[in-house]
Amino acid sequence: MSRLILSIESSCDDSSIALTDIESLEVVAHKKISQEIAHSRYGGVVPELASRMHAVALPKLLESLKGYLDSVEAVGVTTHPGLSVSLHEGVIMAKAVATFLDVPIIGVNHLKGHIYSLFIEKEAQLPLLVLLLSGGHTQILSVKGYDDMSILATTLDDSVGEAYDKVAKMLDLGYPGGPIIEKLAREGDRERFAFPVPLQNSSRIAFSLSGLKNAVRLQIEALKAKGEMSQKDKCDIAASFEKAILSHLLQKSKKIFKQESIKHFAIVGGVSANRYIKDGFKKLCSKFNKEMLEVDLRYTSDNAAMIGRAAIEALKAGKFDTIESLKVGANRQLEAGSRLD
Ligand code: KG4
Ligand code: ZN
Repeated sequence: MSRLILSIESSCDDSSIALTDIESLEVVAHKKISQEIAHSRYGGVVPELASRMHAVALPKLLESLKGYLDSVEAVGVTTHPGLSVSLHEGVIMAKAVATFLDVPIIGVNHLKGHIYSLFIEKEAQLPLLVLLLSGGHTQILSVKGYDDMSILATTLDDSVGEAYDKVAKMLDLGYPGGPIIEKLAREGDRERFAFPVPLQNSSRIAFSLSGLKNAVRLQIEALKAKGEMSQKDKCDIAASFEKAILSHLLQKSKKIFKQESIKHFAIVGGVSANRYIKDGFKKLCSKFNKEMLEVDLRYTSDNAAMIGRAAIEALKAGKFDTIESLKVGANRQLEAGSRLD
C-alpha cells in the first residue's frame, strides 16, 4: 500500500492540495483552484478576498481527495513567506487533518517549494544555482541541500513578477500581468524604446526594478499625451520592457556564473514560464558550460505538488513540526548572505 504525503499551498491566490507518494515521488493527485479572475478586476491580489476564497476552496479540494486519506502518513503546508491571512487558511486545515489522522506535520518555506518544483517526480540534483523569479521574490541562490540554501543576490526593491504585473496594470491589461505581457511582447519591437537596464554601471550583484518600472510609466504617459495608445504601442512597450529585464538578469547572473563553479542552473517561480527569459538563459548557460534544468510548465506557478516534494525531503531528514509549534512565519526581507529557513 502506498504511503502518501498530503500537501497544502495557500500563500497567495492559488488554493492547492496534492498527494505525493513518499517512496516513489509520484504525484498521485494534484488539485488547484486559482483566484486570478476574482483579483483581476482590482489589478492585484486583495488579501481579505484571497483569504475568504481559500476558506471556501480548500475544504472543497480536500473533500475531493477524501478517498485517499487512509494512506496519508504526513501533512506538509506552506508557512511563509506570503500573505499571512491566506497562509493561515492552509495552516489551520493542515493542523486539523494532521490531528485527525494523528500523523506528523511539516511546515514548508514557499521558496524552498519553488526550488523543489524542479524535482517533482524525480530525485533532487544538487548542488544547483537557482534564479528564483516569483511575484514576491527575485533572488539568486546557491542550493546545496534542503537545509543549505543561501542567497547570493536579491532585489533592492520590487521583484521581477511584480514589475510585470505593474506594467500590465499601467497598460490596463489585467492580472496576472506576466503571461499577458509575454504574449504582447512576442508581437512587439524590442528595440523601439531604450529603457534603462537597471544597475548596469554598478559592480553590485543585486537586482532593482523600480527605476525601470518608472521609465516605462513615463513612456506610457508620453504616448498617452499624444492620444490613444495603439495595440502596436502596447506590444512595443511590452517587448522593450522585457528586453531590459532580460539584460538586467543576464548581466547580474553572469557575474555569479563567473564566481561559482556549480554546474547546474535553473530558473524557478511563476516568471520561469517565460520563454523569452528562459531562452536568454539557455544561451548564457551554454556560454558558461552550465546545464540548465527546467520546471515542468504545470508547476511553475504556485502549487501544492512542489510543497509536497519539499516536505518529503524534510520528512526524510527527520524534520517535523508539532501542532503547537507550527506557525505562519514572518515575512522577513532576507539580505544576500542569509540562508532560507
Ligand atoms: O511563483 P508565483 O506563481 O507566485 C508567487 O510566489 O508570487 O509567481 C507569480 C508571478 C506573477 O507576478 C506573474 O505575473 C508572473 O509570476 N508570471 C510571469 C509569467 N507567468 C507568470 N511573468 C512573466 N512571464 C510569464 N509567462
Ligand atoms: Zn510562489
